[in-house]
Amino acid sequence: MPLAHADVVTKLNQIADTALVQLVYVSSLTLRSRLSTTIFEDIESKAREYNERNFITGALCYGNGHFLQCVEGEKSKVSALLERILADERHQNIEVLLLQTVEQRSFTDWRMRMVFLERWLWSPATKQQADQLSPYLPFVPHGWSFERTEQFLEVIKTFENHPHVNATGITYNALGNMVRHIAAPHQAFLVVQGSLSVLLAVALVLLFL
Ligand SMILES: Cc1cc2nc3c(=O)[nH]c(=O)nc-3n(C[C@H](O)[C@H](O)[C@H](O)COP(=O)(O)O)c2cc1C
Repeated sequence: MPLAHADVVTKLNQIADTALVQLVYVSSLTLRSRLSTTIFEDIESKAREYNERNFITGALCYGNGHFLQCVEGEKSKVSALLERILADERHQNIEVLLLQTVEQRSFTDWRMRMVFLERWLWSPATKQQADQLSPYLPFVPHGWSFERTEQFLEVIKTFENHPHVNATGITYNALGNMVRHIAAPHQAFLVVQGSLSVLLAVALVLLFL
C-alpha cells in the first residue's frame, strides 16, 4: 500500500537527519511531458549534478508512462530532494511506496541512470536478462505493495546491463521514441514493402492508362 503524504512527513520527522534512508516513489508523466523530446535527458543531467553533490544514489525506472525512482542518502538530503520532486510539474500521481532507514545503500550509482522498462527499447543483451523482469511488465507500479517494491529493487540492482537505451540516443519524445524503436528492427522489411508498393502503384497506373 502506498504511504499517504501525511504518513511520509510523520515518518521522515521520526528519523534522524543523518540516518541513511531509502525512498521509493512512483509517478506518471503528464501528457505534455510525453511530448517533450528532452525530458529523460533533462532529468538525468539534473540528477547527475545534484545527486553527486548531495551523495544521493539510486535508480530511476521508466515504462508505460510511469516512473519508479529509488533514492538513497542522508535523510535531510533525501527529504530536500523529495520536496523538489513533489513540486515538479512534469509528472503527477506521485505515490511513496517505501520509506525506510537502511544499513547500507542498494545502489552505488549517483548518476541516476534511466532504466527503461519497455521491451522494444531493450538491447539484445538486455532481452536475455529480461526473464526476471517479466512479472513486472507491463509496467504499472502504482499501488505496489512494500514486498513487491522490494522484490523489484532486488531484480533491478542485480542487472549488470541495465535495460536502458543510451540516453544520448534519445532524441525523440516518449511517443516518437517508441515508434522509432519499433520501426528500427524492421527497416529492411519496410524498405522492401515500400518499394513493392511503389511498383504496384506504377503498374496500376500503366494498366489503366
Ligand atoms: C521522475 C523524476 C525524477 C527526478 N529525479 C531527480 C533526481 O534524482 N535528482 C534531481 O536533482 N532532480 C530530479 N528530478 C528533477 C527535480 O524534480 C527538479 O526538477 C529539479 O531538482 C529542480 O532543479 P532546479 O530548481 O535547479 O531547476 C526528477 C524529476 C522527475 C520528473
